[in-house]
Amino acid sequence: MRIRVPPIKTQGIKTKLVPFIRKVVDWTNEKRWVEPFMGSGVVAFNMEPQSALMCDANPHLIDFYRSIQNRSVCAKSVREFLELEGESLRKRGSDHFYEIRSRFNKNPNPFDFLFLNRSCFNGMIRFNRKGAFNVPFCRKPDRFRAAYITKIVNQIDWVADVISRCDFEFKTQDWRVTLSQSSDEDFVYLDPPYVARTTDYHGSWSTADDDDLAALVKKRIGNFALSTWLENRYRRNSYVDENFSEYPIHTQEHFYHLGATETLRNSITEALIISQPTVKQASSHLKAA
Ligand SMILES: C[S@@+](CC[C@H](N)C(=O)[O-])C[C@H]1O[C@@H](n2cnc3c(N)ncnc32)[C@H](O)[C@@H]1O
Repeated sequence: MRIRVPPIKTQGIKTKLVPFIRKVVDWTNEKRWVEPFMGSGVVAFNMEPQSALMCDANPHLIDFYRSIQNRSVCAKSVREFLELEGESLRKRGSDHFYEIRSRFNKNPNPFDFLFLNRSCFNGMIRFNRKGAFNVPFCRKPDRFRAAYITKIVNQIDWVADVISRCDFEFKTQDWRVTLSQSSDEDFVYLDPPYVARTTDYHGSWSTADDDDLAALVKKRIGNFALSTWLENRYRRNSYVDENFSEYPIHTQEHFYHLGATETLRNSITEALIISQPTVKQASSHLKAA
């Protein structure tokens, strides 16, 4: 099945891992899909669950997808906006990019967020401590060519279609709140920031967050899948061995193209930690055998 790409780019985007995730997770469409760290939303949008709770600490991501849901952002309005602002970018270059950036930081809105995300350096989403978007210009005044705008417009159309066919709820909130709002019947897919890559994200992420996450996820009775990294050419992630040695772990090689530095843009073995079968599931497996 063809994997589609959503309109917003984020570091750590799992586009290339969607087939792998789809193959190994124990999920059927009757279960609500819950993502405490939705990022671009690429995983859920490709899974097309009937019902989903999609959350993130970054309010701009949530506002963007809510705006698609309530149709204040649509293919037509995005095309008009990008044609207009793209033309100004062509004429005025970086001055225009930085003008939109300060406009967005004073008064955030989903159109400017999309513009910045698609014309900033390396498609990154990064905020300073005061919550201001601070990624520099990609230095391509001709960024919004007709073909590029059409590509983005098609991505909006696709996501709008998925959201309109499925029951999606988007919320800005900390992952702990999202977990507390999920039931044992839900399937939870967790893709937290990786500790060594935290500066790229809205909010911060520490080893204490990682420890909290491991403790809470391990208490969960319902099914879950947790994405993390297992190893790269320099080291192995001891977090996985220390916390999840008794859990089924699936791995896949992946190359990250988005990142602030060369060391963040390298090959990594991704791990998907899967919940243990519950007692009920385990006994039905035994009966089947
Ligand atoms: C690795 S990214 C998720 C990528 C996503 N799976 C994708 O494929 O696009 C991690 C996300 O966690 C979010 N995040 C960081 N701290 C958070 C927190 N305390 N609670 C909820 N989300 C948080 C970031 O804003 C970021 O979007």
